[in-house]
Amino acid sequence: MNKTTSLEVITTISQLRRRLAGERAAGKCIGLVPTMGYLHDGHLSLIRRARQECDVVVMSLFVNPLQFGANEDFDRYPRDLERDRALAAEAGVDVLFHPAVEEMYPQKPSTTVRVHEALTGRLCGRSRPGHFDGVATVVSKLFHIVEPHRAYFGQKDAQQLAIIQRMVEDLNFPVQIIGCPTVREPDGLAMSSRNVYLSPEERKIAPLLYRALCHGEAMIRNGETDPEAVVAQVRQQIAQAPQFRIDYVELVSFPQLQPLETIRGTVLLAVAAWLGQTRLIDNVIIDITPQGLDEPGTDEEGEP
Ligand code: PAF
Repeated sequence: MNKTTSLEVITTISQLRRRLAGERAAGKCIGLVPTMGYLHDGHLSLIRRARQECDVVVMSLFVNPLQFGANEDFDRYPRDLERDRALAAEAGVDVLFHPAVEEMYPQKPSTTVRVHEALTGRLCGRSRPGHFDGVATVVSKLFHIVEPHRAYFGQKDAQQLAIIQRMVEDLNFPVQIIGCPTVREPDGLAMSSRNVYLSPEERKIAPLLYRALCHGEAMIRNGETDPEAVVAQVRQQIAQAPQFRIDYVELVSFPQLQPLETIRGTVLLAVAAWLGQTRLIDNVIIDITPQGLDEPGTDEEGEP
């Protein structure tokens, strides 16, 4: 579908609702791309996909304090509104919703979304307690504010994607969740706003994470069915660079996020590791059902 307007920045919920009411009444399809800004090609791929599929593209830019732990990087999270505005306009955003913290949380919320431990008790949820409750709360607020027909999320945050899909089912949000492939640098590093924290030396080492995941994926595609064998090999690969401090390497069912006794169906091989002060995450989603076995991976760009 064609782009309808040039980019407009809106900072209040009431203005945004007024801006979208007419479009909704006219039967236009509204797409939402939720972000915390400091855009990279991963975000831009979500925007371009929304541009192709929707009449009106809304991008939210909000660094959500509720999803950061006390010792995490809320204050130093990279921010550059002017750069983001230019990139968003070029990629086809119609409305950039950029509320202040006081607009989204005029008071400390007494009502939040609580995600069940079955989904948050492993992977990133284990080392970031409360993180996914914060994500689910802000995303549900954005869904109520924007009332999008479609919302776009990256597979790089696979646990987040699974949790939001489940929240939409559990709470009957009338929105279609679209998961989009991870976008990678040419050397394989998954794009992330936090990559900016890496020193030049750390940046050189960082792609090892994806190489280790590819090694694990190859084992699975070659018939390995023991999850522990795959996890051990991936850990061993990452340990080649002693600078990494592994948070987790896990293999779970996707999108259920449950541990596996035997590798079968669609699985998520995911890793989180610290390089200096930076926590990197990455994953591959592998479909080993008969129809998935012939299909290429879901990543964009990048060489292992
Ligand atoms: O993935 C992100 O950038 C954030 O978790 C999201 C979905 C925008 C919620 O703050």
